[in-house]
Amino acid sequence: MPPDAPAAASDDDRTETATASEPPTPRERPRLSKRARDVPESAIRRFFEIAAEMDDIISLGIGEPDFVSPEPVIEAGVDALRDGETSYTANAGRPDLREGIAADLQRRHGLHYDPDREVLITVGVSEAMQCTMLALLDPGDEILIPEPCFVSYGPLAQLAGAEVTYVPTSAEHHFEVTPEAIRERITPRSKVLFLSYPSNPTGAVLRRETLNEIAKIVIENDLLVISDEIYDRLTYGRAHETGHVSVPTAPGLRERTVLLNGFSKNYAMTGWRIGYACAPESLFGGLYKAHQYIVMSAPTIAQFGAVAALTESQDAVEEMRRAYDERRTAFPTFARRAFRRKSSRNACSKKSTSPACPATPSAPAGRASCAAPTPRAARRSKRRCVAFRGLWSGLEVRSL
Ligand SMILES: Cc1ncc(COP(=O)(O)O)c(C=O)c1O
Repeated sequence: MPPDAPAAASDDDRTETATASEPPTPRERPRLSKRARDVPESAIRRFFEIAAEMDDIISLGIGEPDFVSPEPVIEAGVDALRDGETSYTANAGRPDLREGIAADLQRRHGLHYDPDREVLITVGVSEAMQCTMLALLDPGDEILIPEPCFVSYGPLAQLAGAEVTYVPTSAEHHFEVTPEAIRERITPRSKVLFLSYPSNPTGAVLRRETLNEIAKIVIENDLLVISDEIYDRLTYGRAHETGHVSVPTAPGLRERTVLLNGFSKNYAMTGWRIGYACAPESLFGGLYKAHQYIVMSAPTIAQFGAVAALTESQDAVEEMRRAYDERRTAFPTFARRAFRRKSSRNACSKKSTSPACPATPSAPAGRASCAAPTPRAARRSKRRCVAFRGLWSGLEVRSL
């Protein structure tokens, strides 16, 4: 809880004392901005609080790879420190990293970005996201965000003053957003469509035919797109065979899309805090200004690490992906067993004193353990289901 949190509660009271005709005096004025008061606390934090109370749970956690960053990345970071690379870099980032990213996107998706005018190195996708929202959204603009989605999208848009319209997705469509659902929610104030595939938390991927339909809607309604593709290399099964579908590759979308990506997930580099935004030159200046004033430049050492990731760590990416894939395949059986074991362990083992247990009436009186979970176990396993549902990160739901 931030130190001035109690003041926030009294701020609400102060707001109420001001009447519409009289502007609030300095003493009545809330200390926190409306934007800070209105933005919700992180649901992930709440989730951890719930999980912390539970024992014996399987953590599917946040999108935090449990691998250490590849060795060449670590060496590059250490070397950079030893070589005295401890100053700021250019605001947009080191040229060799921007060039490496442009070359990587060209090689993997046939996308062309000018490293000098269209690639910005950021403090993770998180900062890229914030700069993009600030650059594209004015107060009152609407942003469409398919959900379930990563926790930051809505609040960051809100902090930029925008109104968020969530677009529901469903298991029926494998959590891929449908063009119809987007179309139904567009209003004259809609300005940005946020896409995030492969999705955290559902694991959904975007198919080429769906993207092409979405592209038509975007162009018809003169929308812009922000595409968070941070999990682009962590695809499995059929989605892996087909290959990741990058949003700016759709007809007409490159000039309307800000592509966000980073090193946190693919290269197990969450702590290095390094990501990037690629935008057409017409939009790039806005992102660049926000970035300049917010952080000046991304961490220098991390930029050296990221260059090594792109040039020397491709095998490591594939090794980690395979390991996740093995776990993903094993998960349904494992989870089923875990649930079964858990529910039998928590089954009420008290000798039944009634003629028949109400939950399992067939259990012989006075002898058998009944199969019904105790109230405490039932409560816990329900919460565990919530935990599982909230944390599918990196899994592909369609094959489960
Ligand atoms: C979908 C998604 N986007 C962005 C981020 C933030 O990533 P970064 O570490 O690059 O700031 C996360 C982190 O969990 C994420 O899951």
